[in-house]
Amino acid sequence: MKGIILVAGNGTRLAPLTFSVSKPLLPVYDKPMIYYPLTTLIQAGIKDVLIITNAKDKQKFETLFGTGAELGMNISYEVQHVQRGIADAFMVGEKFIGNDNVCLILGDNIYHGDSMLPQLKASARLQNGAEIYGYHVADPRRFGVAVFDQNKNVTAVEEKPAEPKSNLAVTGLYFFDNSVVEIAKHIQPSKRGELEITDVINEYIKRGNCKLNELGKDVIWMDVGTFQSLNKASSLVETLQNVTSKYVACIEEQAFDAGFINNKQLGNTIEKQKKSDYGKYLESVYNANCQAQKEAQNITEHFLDKYQNQSTKLR
Ligand code: G1P
Repeated sequence: MKGIILVAGNGTRLAPLTFSVSKPLLPVYDKPMIYYPLTTLIQAGIKDVLIITNAKDKQKFETLFGTGAELGMNISYEVQHVQRGIADAFMVGEKFIGNDNVCLILGDNIYHGDSMLPQLKASARLQNGAEIYGYHVADPRRFGVAVFDQNKNVTAVEEKPAEPKSNLAVTGLYFFDNSVVEIAKHIQPSKRGELEITDVINEYIKRGNCKLNELGKDVIWMDVGTFQSLNKASSLVETLQNVTSKYVACIEEQAFDAGFINNKQLGNTIEKQKKSDYGKYLESVYNANCQAQKEAQNITEHFLDKYQNQSTKLR
């Protein structure tokens, strides 16, 4: 399974903040917004990631992540020259996707919550069809809205309906089999002139092959497109980090937890950011891992000693 993060928008609802800084590089509390969707992909176990940007911002994302090697990942970049809508990502990313299945996440979508981790891992094993993620919201008219049956098969998705048939918003995280590229090529622009992701999903629904993953009540999902939601997300992350001992979307720690890098490689990422609280947090993770490794080694040595003593006695 490959992953795409779509960050090509102009973030016009956040002007003047976005006149010179791309929206996904704006801070959500103490890290760039794109760290959050990247974390979701890492949590799904996805190592090969394409970042689709607009032409003027490509270099900034390259500066941020390089080849992804520090995280044990392969990160590449493509430009979407004309903003033709979310579904265009599959055309821009066609070469990158190749014969694989693909997960698409929108660069302004933030997910947090342990209960979705097994769901993510299962979606990353998708063989055919599509899987989308739904979240109960108070005002579904701002989103794609899903209707589904008792077997969690999606029966309809409507884009920003005036009269929503449910309060289940389709969030910006989608898993598709390889046929998504052909499907995207055949959809027509909507009334607002965009290739809608909803039309791609509707084709899978027509084929009877679209499953819904309902996000649990403990999960936080936010689409960070306005000043209010940006602020809310920042204070939420601050609170979470203050009350728990774990940072949200610390990509180096996430890459370690996913087994993409070892503790030594995690340690190598500290130096360049050691003066910030983020870097200090990483250092504490590194030290705790060293300690855990030492304890594990002591236990192994203890049992080895015991085993050797016993076998000497038996002889
Ligand atoms: C897009 C999708 C919509 C989805 C939303 C989630 O809307 O078109 O179906 O619910 O992302 O963030 P947009 O943010 O482009 O208006």
